[in-house]
Amino acid sequence: MLEDGKIYLGLSKDDPEKKVFLPLSQANRHGLIAGASGTGKTVTMKVMAESFSAAGVPVFLCDVKGDVSGICEKGKDSDGMQRRIDRFGIRDTFSYRPYPTVFYDLYGKGGHQIRTTVSDIGPALLSRILDLTDVQEGVLEIVFRVADEQGLKILDLKDLRAMLTYVSDHRDEFTSTYGNVAPQSIGAILRALLPLDKEGGELFFGEPAFDILDWIRTAEDGRGYINVLHCVETIRSPRIYAIFLLWMMAELFEVLPEVGDPDKPKLVFFFDEAHLLFSDAPKALLAKIEQTVKLIRSKGVGIYFVTQSPSDIPDPVLAQLSNRVQHALRAYTPAEQKAVRTAAQTFRPNPAFSTEEAIMTLGTGEALVSCLDEKGVPSVVERSAILCPESLMAPASATARRAAMLHSPVGDKYDTPVDSESAYEILTGRAAEAADAAEKEKEENERKKAEAAEKAAEEKEKEKKEKEAEKKKKAEDKRAEKRRDKIESQLIRTGGSLLSRGLLSILKKL
Ligand SMILES: Nc1ncnc2c1ncn2[C@@H]1O[C@H](COP(=O)(O)OP(=O)(O)OP(=O)(O)O)[C@@H](O)[C@H]1O
Ligand SMILES: [Mg+2]
Repeated sequence: MLEDGKIYLGLSKDDPEKKVFLPLSQANRHGLIAGASGTGKTVTMKVMAESFSAAGVPVFLCDVKGDVSGICEKGKDSDGMQRRIDRFGIRDTFSYRPYPTVFYDLYGKGGHQIRTTVSDIGPALLSRILDLTDVQEGVLEIVFRVADEQGLKILDLKDLRAMLTYVSDHRDEFTSTYGNVAPQSIGAILRALLPLDKEGGELFFGEPAFDILDWIRTAEDGRGYINVLHCVETIRSPRIYAIFLLWMMAELFEVLPEVGDPDKPKLVFFFDEAHLLFSDAPKALLAKIEQTVKLIRSKGVGIYFVTQSPSDIPDPVLAQLSNRVQHALRAYTPAEQKAVRTAAQTFRPNPAFSTEEAIMTLGTGEALVSCLDEKGVPSVVERSAILCPESLMAPASATARRAAMLHSPVGDKYDTPVDSESAYEILTGRAAEAADAAEKEKEENERKKAEAAEKAAEEKEKEKKEKEAEKKKKAEDKRAEKRRDKIESQLIRTGGSLLSRGLLSILKKL
């Protein structure tokens, strides 16, 4: 709840007149909400998110369990709530109401699809997430350069795969210009991409690419939009989640201008269940989070981590979190007792109580709070009862979520995927053309071969016929000669007998 440009967070338990505030001007100094399970962390996060929204500051929340989503619905009344409203003295200003919410989801189920292109992620980031060696990263850089020079856009994973295969198939052409492109490296990169497919990478990579400035919007009534990233499924896809977070942080740096110390933040992030962010996170992500937390303050962005124990957060990050809300911690084991001691030591002590003991005796919805005051000095820790949210302290109904998505300002922009012509389409097109040309050449060769064979057969046939005709003629000639010889000999014989008969008759007459 807002009061005089400050977020009214709760009331001191030791001095019921004393309100506990977080000044908007210090909200970009980041923060931590910690506490054991069920102590009120998510509710505190909602109370803060609502206050930022009311101040016209857009908020981004990760909804890991689904219970943050209720922020789009108005809260439910109860006796307990009525008592709290009176206790906090907010009867005149408090009203159960929904907050302007835009749901997002890297898988497009629980909200509008957030996508980005592989080329936006770039070879360096991709290599770090895929754990590539330096040599493989070098090859990936070559692949991106070739794509760039040939106007082949790498938008999604199939584009990247097509480019890798293309560079591998034509490596002799590229080696002289860019250096060695070992097929083994290409093979390793292709294999490293497989888990991304399994994690639904084809949904996250593509167009229309998300514009991070869409998170910085205010609703018509002037309240900042609450952007809820539905992470219930995503959290089980650590690589995609890590890529998204790295990309998001890099984008924020690129897109947002330096603003120094603004009156109120431009955007505030809350990472609920932040231990999931840090445990088993790739080194690249840890380094980037550390760098982002240090540098993003001057861009007017506040980051708040919500987790069970402060020890879930790496020390360099923890050191940057100035606004702290510590809910109850249990201390049964020596390790837990140590965690309580460490948590207590981070607060500026209050002479009214022992911080360490207080942490263990806080009730649900109560917390130790210490924020920076308007001058940037950490306030003395206060044992406080935290305000109650105006929106629903439970998951949103499916109907409310659908309604929020239907009336969202970005649905038209992101709900329909676009598969524009990129490396995959162009390279498959080229391959199809080449295969077509090869097929035509083969057909032509076969046609020529068949033609030659036909001609040869015709020649042979002609030759055969000529030979047969000659043979026939020879046989004919032979037969004619024989006939002639026979007639001749007959003639000779007949002539001989005639002659001898004639001679005999002449002789007789003599
Ligand atoms: N400030 C508050 N005002 C009213 N009720 C509260 C408040 N804080 C917590 N509660 C009650 O306590 C319940 C648990 O709170 P919440 O879900 O915030 O705990 P949590 O610390 O986030 O738990 P977990 O670690 O399991 O996520 C809420 O559902 C609500 O009923
Ligand atoms: Mg919670």
